[in-house]
Amino acid sequence: MNILVTGGAGFIGSNFLNLYVPTYTKNNFINLDKLTYAANPENLNTLENSSNYCFEHADITNYDQLVQLFEIHKPDLVIHFAAESHVDRSIHGPSEFIQSNIIGTFNLLEACRRFWPERKNNKLFLHVSTDEVYGSLGAEGYFTENTAYDPSSPYSASKASSDHLVRAYHRTYGLPALITNCSNNYGPYQFPEKLIPLMILNALAGNPLPVYGKGENVRDWLYVEDHCRALWTVAEKGIPGETYNIGGNNEKRNVDIVNQICEVIAEETGRDPQQLKSLITFVQDRPGHDLRYAIDASKIKKKLGWQPKEDFAGGLQKTIHWYLNNRDWVERIQSGSYKNWIETNYGNRKNS
Ligand code: NAD
Ligand code: DAU
Repeated sequence: MNILVTGGAGFIGSNFLNLYVPTYTKNNFINLDKLTYAANPENLNTLENSSNYCFEHADITNYDQLVQLFEIHKPDLVIHFAAESHVDRSIHGPSEFIQSNIIGTFNLLEACRRFWPERKNNKLFLHVSTDEVYGSLGAEGYFTENTAYDPSSPYSASKASSDHLVRAYHRTYGLPALITNCSNNYGPYQFPEKLIPLMILNALAGNPLPVYGKGENVRDWLYVEDHCRALWTVAEKGIPGETYNIGGNNEKRNVDIVNQICEVIAEETGRDPQQLKSLITFVQDRPGHDLRYAIDASKIKKKLGWQPKEDFAGGLQKTIHWYLNNRDWVERIQSGSYKNWIETNYGNRKNS
C-alpha cells in the first residue's frame, strides 16, 4: 500500500512516521511537506535510508504539484496532517490558515476525486482534525461526535471548514473519507510556541512563564504516540463517512500544568521548585480564548478498541527528558525566524 502523509515533518507527522515506517516495511510512506517554520526534516533523520520512505517538498495549496505527485506515487491512503496549527499565529495573521487549511484540503480532496474515480473501496482519506472545531465547554460536559461546530479562532474556523469539505466530499462524491478530532497533544518534536514545550524551555532558561489570563483554561492532554496509534487504528478499522473523537480523559488547568512542569524540572535538574514556580507570570488573555475542552472518546474505544497507553505524569516526564537530551535541536529551532516571531508577537504581552 502507498501511504501519502501530508505534513509529515511537523510535530505529530514526525512522530507518526518515526513510529510506523520501521514497523510497516511492506507499505511505502511518502511524506509531502512544504517545510514551513513548524517543520523540521531533522526529526526524520533515522528514516533517510529506509527503502519504504521518501520525502517530497511540496505545497498542498498548489494543485498541479499534487496532481504530479499523485501520478508518481499512486497513493491508496492519504493521511492529512498538513496545516497551520498554532492558534496565536492565526490571531496575528489568519491568511496562511485559510490558504493551507481550507484551500490546501480542498486541493487534496480534488486530487483524490480525480485519481480515485473507481475502486474506491481500496482507498481512504483520513483527515486529522481537532477538538477546537466544537468551540468551548463550560464547567461540565464533553465533546461528542455529535456536538455542533462552534469554532472561536481563525485556526479552529479553518479546521472546521476543512472538516465540512471532507464530509461533503464523502456525501456528494462517495469519497471514502474519515475524520478524527483530537485534543491537545504533547511529546517529542513539538515546536516550542505551544504551551508545554514553551514552558519547559523557558523554565530551563530561567525566563518568565507566561500564563494567559488566570490560568484556569482547561485542556484535555494526550501523549502524541497515543494519538498516532489512534490514527493507525482508525485507518485500519474505521468506517468511511464516520468521525472519531480522540482524547486522553486527562483534563488539566493551564496553571496546574505549568506548576507540574516546574516540579518535574526541579526533580530532574536539582533546581529549587519554588524558584521555578516564581517565574510564573499571568499575562493578558488570548482573544476568544476557549475555556475548556474535554473529549468523550467512548466511540473509538468501544467500536475500534483503542485506548491511550501513557498517563500524564509518565508522558510529561518523557517529554521533559526529550527536551533535556536534545538541546541542539532546541537551539537550532530557537534561532532565526522563531526568535523574531516570539519577540514581535509575544514580546509586548502585558501582565494581567
Ligand atoms: P505542526 O504545525 O507541528 O506541523 C504542520 C506540518 O504541516 C509542518 O510540517 C508544515 O510544514 C506542514 N504544512 C503546513 N502547511 C503546508 C502546506 N501548505 N503544504 C504542505 N505542508 C504544509 O502541526 P501538528 O501539531 O503536527 O498538527 C498536525 C495536524 O494535526 C494539524 O492538521 C492539526 O490541526 C492537527 N491537530 C493537532 C493537535 C495538536 O495538539 N498539535 C491536536 C489535534 C489535531
Ligand atoms: O485542542 C487541540 C489543539 O491544541 C490543536 O488543534 C492545536 O493545533 C494545538 O496548537 C492546540 O491548541 P491550543 O491553543 O489549545 O494550544 P496552545 O499550546 O497554544 O495553548 C494551550 C493552552 O495554554 C491554551 O489555553 C492557551 C494557554 N497558553 C498558551 C501559550 C502558548 C498560555 O497560557 N500561555 C502561552 O504562552
